[in-house]
Amino acid sequence: MNLKLKFLESQKKKVEEIEEILREFLPKEEGYQKVIMAAMGYSLLAGGKRLRPMLMKETYLLFSGGEERPQEKDALHAFMAAQEMIHTYSLVHDDLPAMDDDEYRRGRKTTHVVFGEDMGILAGDALLNFAFETAAGAFFTGFPDSGKLAAALRILSRKAGIYGMIGGQVIDVKETGHAVPKEVLDTVYKLKTAALIESSMMIGAVLGGASEDEVRTAEQIAGNVGLAFQIQDDILDVTGTAETLGKPVRSDEKNEKTTYVTLYGVAKAKEIVEEKSREAVRMLNELPGDHTYLEQLLVQLICREK
Ligand code: IPE
Ligand code: IPE
Ligand code: MG
Ligand code: MG
Ligand code: MG
Repeated sequence: MNLKLKFLESQKKKVEEIEEILREFLPKEEGYQKVIMAAMGYSLLAGGKRLRPMLMKETYLLFSGGEERPQEKDALHAFMAAQEMIHTYSLVHDDLPAMDDDEYRRGRKTTHVVFGEDMGILAGDALLNFAFETAAGAFFTGFPDSGKLAAALRILSRKAGIYGMIGGQVIDVKETGHAVPKEVLDTVYKLKTAALIESSMMIGAVLGGASEDEVRTAEQIAGNVGLAFQIQDDILDVTGTAETLGKPVRSDEKNEKTTYVTLYGVAKAKEIVEEKSREAVRMLNELPGDHTYLEQLLVQLICREK
């Protein structure tokens, strides 16, 4: 089998494994409040790429000798699920009428369109809160070093918050409808998008047993991946189709957003995606373990169509 096919096949298998984990951690639909569990499942189990939990696990494997150690597996899975819940909540809120006001996500109507704006807000809140409930559960799994779990929890919370994703969304919302200097735009991308990718790779590294230096390297690799990822998202907003993306195109134009495409044009933006991704791949060599899959994944992101 050729290399590309082999990669695509193992990627598919990995996505399925992640979705199995997500299903395992989702709350049962029960009680008078069961509509909220339904809304959480609706947004979380729609077809996303599952990039963040995948990066977390693949980074963990670099340090664990390529296997999920039996005593660590359940805690790792809890953090993978928590990270995808936080990411999904960020999308549910990003699509709200007060934010980007988009009606499609992951190939289906957005959560607030189906469940109403009130439940859309609450489903985002619920996913965020349940993410921390899920991550805290890692302390009860028999993981041998609770200091590492505490460190992972701190990374998860900081990178999702005012110094991370939420901070980025705040600047993104404020800097709408007028020209934005490159330095500010870079800060938006670093925070709204790169922060959760950094969190994913850093937590994988911490749980796998990386040194502080190695965790910092993982953060820098993910920082490059995150910038490239958001620039490619901007490109696809202009060049993609709603069918392939599973979300509307031209959302940035509708919302008068400055993006790398408005600043540099598609061709130059593509070059920057490639440059940042190559830098990330180059830095992977500073980490131990077998990088084959991770490298292919990062290269695939350069030309991704969704
Ligand atoms: C969308 O993230 C939001 C951005 C940070 C660009 P993804 O493109 O990873 O969305 P899913 O998880 O695949 O739906
Ligand atoms: C949002 O960026 C990043 C988040 C933190 C949700 P975008 O607004 O460009 O993401 P999409 O294009 O709606 O997925
Ligand atoms: Mg947005
Ligand atoms: Mg959006
Ligand atoms: Mg976008």
